[in-house]
Amino acid sequence: MDYDVIIIGAGAAGLMAAAAAGQRGRRVLVLDHGEKAGAKILISGGGRCNFTNRNIAPDRYLSANPHFAKSALKRYSQNDFIALVNKYRIAFHQRDLGQLFCDQSSALILNMLLDECGAGSVDFQVGLKVGPVCGAGPYSVDTEDGPVTAESIIVATGGLSIPKMGASSYAHFTARDYSLGVTEMRPALVPLTFTAADLDFMRVLTGIAVDAIVTCGKTTFREAVLFTHRGLSGPAILQISSYWREGQEIFVNLAPDTDVTAWLIERKNQRPKAEAKTVLGELLPSRLADGLAALAKLEHRPMAELPNKALATLGKLVNAWKLLPAGTEGWRTAEVTLGGVDTAGLSSKTMEAKSFPGLFFVGEAVDVTGWLGGYNFQWAWSSGWVAGQHA
Ligand code: FDA
Repeated sequence: MDYDVIIIGAGAAGLMAAAAAGQRGRRVLVLDHGEKAGAKILISGGGRCNFTNRNIAPDRYLSANPHFAKSALKRYSQNDFIALVNKYRIAFHQRDLGQLFCDQSSALILNMLLDECGAGSVDFQVGLKVGPVCGAGPYSVDTEDGPVTAESIIVATGGLSIPKMGASSYAHFTARDYSLGVTEMRPALVPLTFTAADLDFMRVLTGIAVDAIVTCGKTTFREAVLFTHRGLSGPAILQISSYWREGQEIFVNLAPDTDVTAWLIERKNQRPKAEAKTVLGELLPSRLADGLAALAKLEHRPMAELPNKALATLGKLVNAWKLLPAGTEGWRTAEVTLGGVDTAGLSSKTMEAKSFPGLFFVGEAVDVTGWLGGYNFQWAWSSGWVAGQHA
């Protein structure tokens, strides 16, 4: 046998699994078709890697089995990863909603993981084509440089998002080869797109960001919404995109702390000569206020002339703007993949396939998808670590 463990995919989950297995004394080889390990870590968090979140909780992960993520997240928690970051004296800071970012660069997180792999004497072969997994313990994998064999295989090839960075369906066809299910996959944490009428309105507002509550069905998020030339983006929209399905309406509350109808009626008495758009500009960025007043067909009339019913129409537009997204920007810009290798065939304690001892699936490849804000890296660390303890 060439190795004890072969890990396919040198991303967040694969590197964590490699370090954990290597430090247990296992002989580990990591294979990746990309030229460099950890490419997504480097670009993550705008170059500062939002590496975890203080508020990690299983209910902030989407999966056909909402309980599946519990065990790994408990065994290797955000506090374990924070302790590792502290051990390497990597400076970090907390932003809104418990998100932890590096002060300097994502490269520090990648270097830390590579050092941890070094401490486990992990071998790497990157920039080479990797063939399918064969056998059933021992396993073998064909590479351009010939076949390699190992007792265990950890598949850590991620999801389908950002194909130009080398995303592939390797994990999913491997799962199918071994009779494991794969749940429906969709781009998630992705901007939403709109049809012509809405888009014309949004394009003019490109670059404006507002604190908003976005609702889809029973799910709501309060974070920023950003207008773009393609539609709507920003954290609140990315979050809701994981829950939205074609044909569903979303509601955007652009002034979450104000009952805008009541507020406009009050302002009518105080500023009877002002136009509605000018008054609304006290609450919202003026370009957005102008646009919404125009949508409500109230642009140029003074407040005193507007019946309360008209102000209620504008108030409703601001507090519960109803939109029907046309779709999403798709895999090209999605931060993650919703769905993946069906957890029904995996052990939640070890990430090992129940029917194939020695075959593991970790990270984004698996049907566990976190919220925006460091949740997905934490899943990669936690699932990678537990697999590395057992492979
Ligand atoms: P990941 O995609 O990291 O790694 C998979 C590896 O497998 C890659 O190295 C790839 O080359 C390799 N591979 C794929 N197919 C292969 C094949 N056929 N043969 C050989 N190798 C193959 N999350 C978060 O928590 N905080 C953040 O700040 C961000 N920021 C962010 C920004 C952007 C732009 C994106 C696209 C994503 C994020 N994320 C994030 C999400 C996060 O990057 C993601 O959840 C993890 O990288 C998933 O880790 P994995 O190791 O599972 O896959």
